[in-house]
Amino acid sequence: MKNCKELLAENKDWIEETFEKIDNKMSEVTKRPRAPFRPQSWTAGFWGATNVLLYEKTKNEDYLKSAKENEEKMDEALFDFESLYHDVGFMWHILSGALYRITGDEKSKNRNLLAASSLASRFVLGGNFIRAWNDASSKGWPQRPVTNWTIIDCMMNLPILYWASEHIGDDRFKRIGMAHADNAIRTHLRADGSVHHCVEHDRETGDAVETFGGQGIAVGSSWSRGQAWAIYGFALSYLHTKEARYLDAAKQVANYFIACCCDDWLPRIDFRAPSEPVYYDTSAGCCAACGMIEIAKALAEDEGGVYMHAAIKILRAIAERFGDFDPATDAMILGGSVRYPVPGKYPLEQSGVHQHIIYSDFFFTEAILKLLGSEFNPW
Ligand code: GLY
Repeated sequence: MKNCKELLAENKDWIEETFEKIDNKMSEVTKRPRAPFRPQSWTAGFWGATNVLLYEKTKNEDYLKSAKENEEKMDEALFDFESLYHDVGFMWHILSGALYRITGDEKSKNRNLLAASSLASRFVLGGNFIRAWNDASSKGWPQRPVTNWTIIDCMMNLPILYWASEHIGDDRFKRIGMAHADNAIRTHLRADGSVHHCVEHDRETGDAVETFGGQGIAVGSSWSRGQAWAIYGFALSYLHTKEARYLDAAKQVANYFIACCCDDWLPRIDFRAPSEPVYYDTSAGCCAACGMIEIAKALAEDEGGVYMHAAIKILRAIAERFGDFDPATDAMILGGSVRYPVPGKYPLEQSGVHQHIIYSDFFFTEAILKLLGSEFNPW
């Protein structure tokens, strides 16, 4: 296996050309009016967050303007307490948190601290986990209380807690993030390196009481975006805390992910679904690649090559098959999927299969910037 340095040198031209294509496209897209969006959605910040990444790299003021517009519209959600749930890291940390770190804007800082406080308030003492949702019926999911549920996606929300602790100089937020991450190692991570999407816990011990398939095909399946949330999420917990157990967990899930997609490097929506029909999810690949690059950077040059190799393979496969770098269209990375369709339960036409989803664009851009050597991590 080639080491990281050799792989980066070998792919240098492709990486640079791909970033040029991203900037060429997005600098046009960002000038066009943006379609209305629901500020309460967990995806509401990704457009602005992509603009923040591009502004940090290029200093093109159009990106900054667009990011700030996105951020301001989301204040409606920040002051709608009952609509807030655990996804505030996705919503604010990579937008307001990242903007604060780049521009020093005090309003952005306060938005991020408020979001972190709301996440910390979801922590269940005793069980040592962060409650995910307020009410799952709004999602058309099981009509049962979700009081003691966690979902693996929450691993991506923990960096806002680590950042808040560092910012205010009090580790109370960080302790909550680490307690949740430790519980996720115990209850979400399976022995084979895959992870459950949803877990219901015993409120006092935190033990898993029952697991759910969530956006995957069935209970016990392996939803690829959930695997990606775990890879990058555990890697981020490692980056913020330097605790080796989080890097080990990230490596375990990455090893499993690589084994499941190394035929064509295009992740299916669920790694335990039948081979036909083929349903891809590019968002899983782009996020997993970000995590793999961070794992590679955290390891010694030679060991890291395994993860760098996989990340580049995934990104190249996605760009070739699903990349649209034409500045005339808005969508960049196609082939994203919201969930696995299940006949009679989640019809294909309502499952959001093979569409443009904004976080594929975000994680693809983030991954290419990492390969270019950017030291700015929005998480
Ligand atoms: N966080 C929800 C999803 O990944 O679809």
